[in-house]
Amino acid sequence: MTAGLDQFLQKLWNDYCALNPQAKKIYDLFSKQGETVINDHIAFRTFQHPKLGIQHISKHFEKYGYQARGEYFFKEKKLYAQHFEHADTNQPKIFISELELDKVSAKLKNQILDLIATLPQNFSESESHFISGRPWKLSHQQYMEMSLESEYAGWVAAHGFRTNHFTVLINSLKKYTTLPQVNEFVLGHGYQLNTSGGVIKGAPQEFLEQSSTMAEKIKVSFTDGTFEIPSCYYEFAKRYPKADGKLYQGFVAQSADKIFESTNR
Ligand code: NI
Repeated sequence: MTAGLDQFLQKLWNDYCALNPQAKKIYDLFSKQGETVINDHIAFRTFQHPKLGIQHISKHFEKYGYQARGEYFFKEKKLYAQHFEHADTNQPKIFISELELDKVSAKLKNQILDLIATLPQNFSESESHFISGRPWKLSHQQYMEMSLESEYAGWVAAHGFRTNHFTVLINSLKKYTTLPQVNEFVLGHGYQLNTSGGVIKGAPQEFLEQSSTMAEKIKVSFTDGTFEIPSCYYEFAKRYPKADGKLYQGFVAQSADKIFESTNR
């Protein structure tokens, strides 16, 4: 069963690197330093809808043995998220968020429903939908309009279905054992970090510290031309042990809230 999962995760990584070359470059930089990079978690974005919502697409991970473990609310961004863990703790956690369509403006909701209406009923029945990219037609003007109200909505509308980010588990590194060391290494190679809420989100008392690159801008073709827009980002996480000595496996909503802004324009 793990073989199937490993294959699926490899496909996700390949698709993610194709869209986000900086992640592969940073991964290679760590590898050249003799580090073995382990993924802490893999994150996806979607819309809350019977065809596409978390409830509907998480089954593709549950079939490999993942189980829902925590839920998170992002009131201002109108997002809901859940994380999933595998019994084999070497497998990355899965973090899926969704835009709550009943909480956005009627205009944005209708724009999104129009996009979803073009999808076949069984669109997300296959796990390959996670690497299907944008499955609908979209103009850059529509993208800009949607992004004005919700950067998140604009991102999903423009990029469709692919991994939003992978995350380096700092605990698995040998030379770069703190978040400041990792950040310095990444900055030193010319990459930009997300400074929203401070470069380092979270603290040892919260059992999780995180930072992330700013998503690099890539050329994306729209019905009205080709434009540069933010793609994906790479995240770095350090976990701390709880009272029972085991590393905390959850997430911190306040930190994740700021990490979402790594794709802001
Ligand atoms: Ni993350």
